[in-house]
Amino acid sequence: MDVKAILSQMTLEEKTALLSGLNFWNLKGVERLGVPSVMVTDGPHGLRKQAGEADHLGLNASVPATAFPTAAGLACSFDRELLGQVGEALGDICQQENVAVILGPGANIKRSPLCGRNFEYFSEDPFLAGEMAAAHIQGVQRKNVGTSLKHFAMNNQEHRRMSTSAVVDERTQREIYLPAFETAVKKGKPWTVMCSYNKVNGTYASENAYLLRQLLREEWGFEGFTVTDWGACADHVKSVIAGMDVAMPALGPKADADLCQAVRDGRVPEETVDEAAGRVLNIITRFVENRRKDPDFSLETQDHLARKVARETAVLLKNDGGLLPLRAGEKIAFIGAYTQTPRYQGGGSSRINAYRVTGALQAVASVAKVAYAQGFDGAKDRPDEDLLAEAVSLARESEVAVLFIGLPDAFESEGFDRSHMRLPENQLRLIDEVCKVNGKVVVVLHNGSPVELPFADKVQAFLEMYLGGQAVGGATVDLLFGAASPSGKLAETFPLRLEDNPSYLSFPGDGDEVVYSEGLYVGYRWYDARRMPVRYPFGYGLSYTTFEYANLRVKNAKPALDEAVEVSVDVTNTGKRAGKEIVQLYVASAHKGISRPEQELKGFEKIALAPGETKTVIFRLERRAFSYWSTAKHDWYAESGAYEIRVGESSRDIRCRAAVELAAEKPVPICVTPDTTFGDLLSIPGSDQVLAQLLQGMASFGGGDASAMGEGGDDMMKAMMRYMPLHGLMSFAPDQFTAEAMHAMIDALNAIQK
Ligand code: BGC
Repeated sequence: MDVKAILSQMTLEEKTALLSGLNFWNLKGVERLGVPSVMVTDGPHGLRKQAGEADHLGLNASVPATAFPTAAGLACSFDRELLGQVGEALGDICQQENVAVILGPGANIKRSPLCGRNFEYFSEDPFLAGEMAAAHIQGVQRKNVGTSLKHFAMNNQEHRRMSTSAVVDERTQREIYLPAFETAVKKGKPWTVMCSYNKVNGTYASENAYLLRQLLREEWGFEGFTVTDWGACADHVKSVIAGMDVAMPALGPKADADLCQAVRDGRVPEETVDEAAGRVLNIITRFVENRRKDPDFSLETQDHLARKVARETAVLLKNDGGLLPLRAGEKIAFIGAYTQTPRYQGGGSSRINAYRVTGALQAVASVAKVAYAQGFDGAKDRPDEDLLAEAVSLARESEVAVLFIGLPDAFESEGFDRSHMRLPENQLRLIDEVCKVNGKVVVVLHNGSPVELPFADKVQAFLEMYLGGQAVGGATVDLLFGAASPSGKLAETFPLRLEDNPSYLSFPGDGDEVVYSEGLYVGYRWYDARRMPVRYPFGYGLSYTTFEYANLRVKNAKPALDEAVEVSVDVTNTGKRAGKEIVQLYVASAHKGISRPEQELKGFEKIALAPGETKTVIFRLERRAFSYWSTAKHDWYAESGAYEIRVGESSRDIRCRAAVELAAEKPVPICVTPDTTFGDLLSIPGSDQVLAQLLQGMASFGGGDASAMGEGGDDMMKAMMRYMPLHGLMSFAPDQFTAEAMHAMIDALNAIQK
């Protein structure tokens, strides 16, 4: 299909009609010209295609599909290739089901552990979230099915999600909330990007030309079409002008006609509509021309993949005395409602009709004989004394008690945020009581977001499965009994308590405004800066084997301006089992001039090592890895001078360090005004000469003899001078430093920076 030719034959009515949906899940086509209507549907951890009548609440069943672990777990794999495999599996089922675009992945940052949709998001760290999102997108699109990167942008809570305005400063946006989208767009090249419901600094994301045009298209080179979240279009005409291509779901004929009229009235340039319609046609034709009706896969093979993926995403948080892996001959009890029916996915638009769900109790049958007790009612908060007593009695007579606990569906979902970070009371009680009668307690946790863990010091082993998808039971058994070694690491910090979280005082905001007052200090950036203890740090996770790091080398520790830094490190498996290690690289800036996080993740690699094996891991760091967003330059900027490269097992287990010295970049210009201080002026190269010239002949001011101020008087004078704005001098030396002299100085100082 020749998109240009099709476009040239379309009427204005046909073109404007393309800019909103046909129905709940379909884009419009142009039947007259042979362009079919195609389906776009959820995502992102499995296909949710409603077979019958569509409805937003998903009341009508969708076709059976594979439910993979949700993004919160996927990110703990730190494995780009694995994410690509999940993406390909999603692409296959979309081809089979004739779905052109599968909505997702979500690249929003976890600002607060309370956000109801955290299970759908990757991380508190933008570098990790961006890499994971890009790999997911690439995987799906290798199968010629599109993705919809969402929810763009600053959508970090469910509370009042359709009306709230996220108030976020420029630097925080650029360094924390946007880079995951930027990486996903630049590397992944998603076919579509979905805007969020909320406003950003007062403007709806769906009407935000800064987000939709300037960032997405002009800066990041996005070529696909933009689409609103379902129901996020507040004003169709405004949104089309701002760069929104398709409003979903269907707006109806009246809205199409209104948009047409707006073009005729000259309120919307026809060119804008042509471009948007062209982008929609491009994607439809791309899908239609690459249709594969019989993709080579089965739900059975995808179930195996789901089990492998769940294994790779699980995080071993504790393993005192090497309690795990368990030995099949031991007298083992599996306790907890999630043993039989695991909590494996989240609630809301991403809910999948899973092809098959395997609980650990079912999976363990082929590996070991275990006894079972339910322990608690998964739908309730209060303990059931009978269930509790039965479980405690079983634990008492067992050698090892494995407790399957987690957050019930009712606690976390799309649509609302949690109000606390606690597990239900009945489960906490169960853990307490079992710990009293058994000294070998293993906890297996199912949750979409961190919970407070008052029992962490009491239990001997602790395996975090997140929402591990339909095959989570099998994967858990594989890990518990050592068929595989755990290899995930936390993609977010587990704080000790909710009150420690940086957004605690400003989440979810007041009324329709949420001010991101913690700025850059999200997740580990905050806990590190405050030197705070946490329950489990970002990047943390154990294995059944151990790793040693050696020989950190920096090839070019003093790189030229356009040169990348190459870092390598040798990692050895020093244990007796095969295992995988996630090698993490953080960059720390020692500069004091501008506030910067203590360290930031800028590289990671996951490697598999046989016992005794050593591998060399290589990282390339572009200048951007050392940069912050300068609000004076409106661009990335890396100060010259010293930086530290830190490589380790987690953000709080750094194994080796090396220094890097960056060459000077053109300094950030200072816009000199009467309010600029003398201290700031002196950082402008050449300013000393301008100052000397203009101040020549001026007598001392402000009290003359500094020694009269007592000891340290000289320093005090210098400090006072450093913090004095230019206009201040006019008050102290009005005869010598006139307004004319000041403005001449300002012009000269601004000129030398050009
Ligand atoms: C959600 C999106 C989803 C869409 C379609 C919205 O409510 O925010 O993530 O893709 O519905 O179901």
